[in-house]
Amino acid sequence: MSDNIQTVTVLSKTTWTPNLFSFTVSRPDSFKFTAGQFVRLGVNPSQLKYYQQTDASDETADIALNEDVFRAYSIVSSPFDEVIEFFSIVIPDGAFTSQLQHLQVGDELLLNTMPFGFLTLARYQKPLPKDLWLLATGTGLAPFLSMLQDLKTWEDYEHIVLAYSARSLDELAYVEKIESLQEDFGTLVDNPARLIFIPIVTREPVEGALSERLPKLLLEGTLQARAGIALDIDTTHVMLCGNPDMVEDTKEALKTLGLVMNRRGEGNIAVENYW
Ligand SMILES: Cc1cc2nc3c(=O)[nH]c(=O)nc-3n(C[C@H](O)[C@H](O)[C@H](O)COP(=O)(O)OP(=O)(O)OC[C@H]3O[C@@H](n4cnc5c(N)ncnc54)[C@H](O)[C@@H]3O)c2cc1C
Ligand SMILES: NC(=O)c1ccc[n+]([C@@H]2O[C@H](COP(=O)([O-])OP(=O)(O)OC[C@H]3O[C@@H](n4cnc5c(N)ncnc54)[C@H](OP(=O)(O)O)[C@@H]3O)[C@@H](O)[C@H]2O)c1
Repeated sequence: MSDNIQTVTVLSKTTWTPNLFSFTVSRPDSFKFTAGQFVRLGVNPSQLKYYQQTDASDETADIALNEDVFRAYSIVSSPFDEVIEFFSIVIPDGAFTSQLQHLQVGDELLLNTMPFGFLTLARYQKPLPKDLWLLATGTGLAPFLSMLQDLKTWEDYEHIVLAYSARSLDELAYVEKIESLQEDFGTLVDNPARLIFIPIVTREPVEGALSERLPKLLLEGTLQARAGIALDIDTTHVMLCGNPDMVEDTKEALKTLGLVMNRRGEGNIAVENYW
């Protein structure tokens, strides 16, 4: 096993829908990361209680019981938390999540403690503009929750817009947490940013939520109107995370609006694709 791989224990599990859940694991003492980064998480089916209880003749047991499977996972929790939290989709025939969905408190997972990724606020050169826009679909919300639990984010910007798109209301996870962030973090710093949360639900009407896809909302100006601020090349950092089609289409919409990709610290747009 690589030097970077450590065994961590599942401490809690929250089920949002049959296809979405969150969980926390123990945090190795030496493990450090920056808000927005991801790690590689591994599962060995033989270490999950579900599989230990499964009769070998059961058809689900034909998954190789001793093969570790690793996948990239963004960290939800703050770099200062004692535990590490993750937010996961379940892809019924996915090699990783078809197994991960069965995890229970007390199970063990493998954590590669080398953090990766540049979807972090550290990528932007100073001076910083006043507005930060965080645009997510599905589990792409994860890195933004970590940033929003880091006080520096609240100190560095004047407005933070979080627009989070899910297919249905029940898939819009973490809403209560998002709604408490201003109180929980904004009150801890002088002149905190104002957080503007814009929920988007695309496949059913939901009061208070927008219903179109992000690129359309941007090109029509609906998102800017709801946020009450303009998207401007001089005042804006914007981060995109989640579905690669959303990332591509939204990137193009932002370019049409005059924003540019962030390279070597300069420019507005930073992105992360989940598949
Ligand atoms: C940088 C990075 C960070 C990631 N962070 C997360 C995270 O925090 N939470 C998370 O659930 N996944 C995350 N992923 C995706 C994750 O690595 C796996 O793809 C996911 O766990 C599914 O694994 P699987 O083996 O079951 O299916 P895979 O064989 O990996 O994927 C099969 C298909 O499922 C779909 N899919 C994969 N991941 C997702 C997803 N997250 N949401 C919707 N559809 C998906 C795609 O169509 C993909 O082609 C991340 C990926 C990358 C590259
Ligand atoms: N969600 C489920 O119930 C479910 C169940 C089983 C498996 N899956 C699988 O999981 C994967 C995705 O599931 P998901 O619901 O988490 O993610 P998703 O399909 O990425 O949907 C999340 C949000 O992203 C939006 N979106 C998708 N493409 C976009 C684009 N090009 N531009 C802007 N917004 C876009 C969706 O809008 P739209 O509604 O307009 O697409 C939705 O609001 C798929 O492979 C799916 O088959 C999902």
